Amino acid sequence: MNQSTQPSLRNATILVGMQFGDEGKGKLVDYLSEKYDIVVRYQGGANAGHTICFEDKTVVLHLIPSGIFHENCSCVIGNGVVIDPDALLKEIETVKELGYDVDGRLYISHNAHLIMPYHKFLDSASEELQGEKKIGTTGRGIGPSYMDKFARKGIRIVDLLKPEILEEKLRQNLEYKNTLIKQVYKKDELDVEEIVRHYTDFDRSIDQYITNTQTYLNDQLKHGKSVLLEGAQGSLLDVDHGTYPFVTSSNPTSGGACTGSGIAPNHIGKIIGICKAYMTRVGNGPFPTELQDETGAEIARIGHEFGATTGRPRRCGWLDLVALKYSMAINGITELAITKLDVLDTFQEVKVCTGYTLNGKAPKDFPTDCDTLERTVPVYKSFNGWKTSNSEAKQFQDMHPNAQAYINYLEDELEVPITFISVGPKRDQTVFR
Ligand code: GDP
Ligand code: IMO
Ligand code: MG
Repeated sequence: MNQSTQPSLRNATILVGMQFGDEGKGKLVDYLSEKYDIVVRYQGGANAGHTICFEDKTVVLHLIPSGIFHENCSCVIGNGVVIDPDALLKEIETVKELGYDVDGRLYISHNAHLIMPYHKFLDSASEELQGEKKIGTTGRGIGPSYMDKFARKGIRIVDLLKPEILEEKLRQNLEYKNTLIKQVYKKDELDVEEIVRHYTDFDRSIDQYITNTQTYLNDQLKHGKSVLLEGAQGSLLDVDHGTYPFVTSSNPTSGGACTGSGIAPNHIGKIIGICKAYMTRVGNGPFPTELQDETGAEIARIGHEFGATTGRPRRCGWLDLVALKYSMAINGITELAITKLDVLDTFQEVKVCTGYTLNGKAPKDFPTDCDTLERTVPVYKSFNGWKTSNSEAKQFQDMHPNAQAYINYLEDELEVPITFISVGPKRDQTVFR
C-alpha cells in the first residue's frame, strides 16, 4: 500500500451495484477490504441488506460498512447515509457479540441525517394510501427521511450531541408530521412526549463515533491511505437514473459516492461494477427480462432469492445487457465483478438479453420511463449451459469451457475487464482474474 505522505489522487475505489440491488456487494466489499485501509458507506440506510459469509458465520449488515470484519480496516458511515439510530446501535452490538471491536474503527458523519419514527410511519402510510400503485419500499423510512433532508427540515447526527437543540427540532417536526398524519393519512397522531423522551435520553454510546468524516477521509487520503466506497442498492434504483418512480430516494451511482462522502472525484482511481450472472428485483417496477415461469422459480430457489432486509421473495430473470450497458455508462465502470455464476450451474440453457423491441423497432437506449420500459420485449441470445459445478473453481481456467465462454462473451459485449467472478457466498469462493 502506498504509505507516502504526498497527496494521493487515485487511492479511492467505488464499488457500485449495476442492477436492482442485492448483487453481492457485501460479499465483495468484505473480500476486498483486506486490501483497503478504510471502507465508506455513502448513501441509503437500513433498507440495504449486505450479506457476508466467512468462517461459519453469515451476517447481514444494514448500516455498518462491510469492511468491519477486517480489524485493520476502519469503517465510515458517510454524510449521504440516513441513519436509524436504534438500528445502528443494534448492529454495533451484533458486531461486538461476534468478537469484533468497533471502538476506534467506526466513524459516523456528523452530517448524516437521522431516521425518526415518523419517517417509518409515513413510509408505510404513504404506501398504504397508494394501494396497487405502491413502490414496494422496505418500510425503513428512507423516502420520508430524504424528503426532510432536501426540504431542509431534517435532524442530523450532530444534533444528537445537543439534547436541547434536538428537542426543539423534534417538537417542530412532530407538530407538522402529526398534522399530516391526522389530516392526510387519517391516522392517530404519534406520541410527541414519548418520542422526545426516547431521543433526548438517547443512549450516549453513539456519541464516541460521531466525526467530521469529510475531514477525516481527506486527511487519510493525503497520508496515502486507500479507501473503498461501498454503494447500497443498485444503479437502476437510483433516484435520478433508475426506473423512476420505482426507485430508492438516493444516488447509488458512482457520482453519489463523492457527494455522500466528501471525497472529490479526482481521488477516484477505480470504479468496480457488480452484477449477478442473472437479474433480480425486490418490490414493484418494470423488469423486462423477468421470468414468471418455472425457470424464474428455479433461479429463485437455487439462488435463495429472498430479500436480506425484508425477507420478501425476489423476482428473477435473465441478465439484461441493455440495462447493463446503461449502468456502465452512467457509472464510468472500469472493471466488472460477476456474482452468483454458480446459481446457473445446473441449467441446460442460459440466456442473455441483447436488445429490446418496442412497437417493432429497437430502442437505442435503456428507457427509464416506466411506461416505455414495461412495453419493451427482450431479444435473447442463447448459450449452452455447463451443467457442472463451478463452486470449487479457484482460477478462471478451472471453470467449465461453456461457463468461460459465457464470461468471455459478456466481457467482449460490455468492453470492460471482468476481474472477479463469484462462485459461491463464501469469501474464498471468489475467482480473481
Ligand atoms: P448485497 O445487497 O448486494 O450485499 O447482496 P445481498 O447480500 O442482499 O444478496 C446477495 C446474496 O447472495 C447473499 O445471500 C449472499 O450471501 C449471496 N451470494 C453472494 N455471492 C454469491 C455467489 O457467488 N454465489 C451464491 N450462490 N451466493 C452468493
Ligand atoms: P441492497 O443495498 C434491493 C428497493 C425496495 C423498493 C425500492 C424503494 O441490499 O442492494 P426504499 O425502502 O429504498 O424506499 O424502497 O428500492 N430496495 C432494494 N432492493 N436491495 C436493496 O438494497 C434495496 N434497497 C431498497 O425493494 O423496490
Ligand atoms: Mg441486499
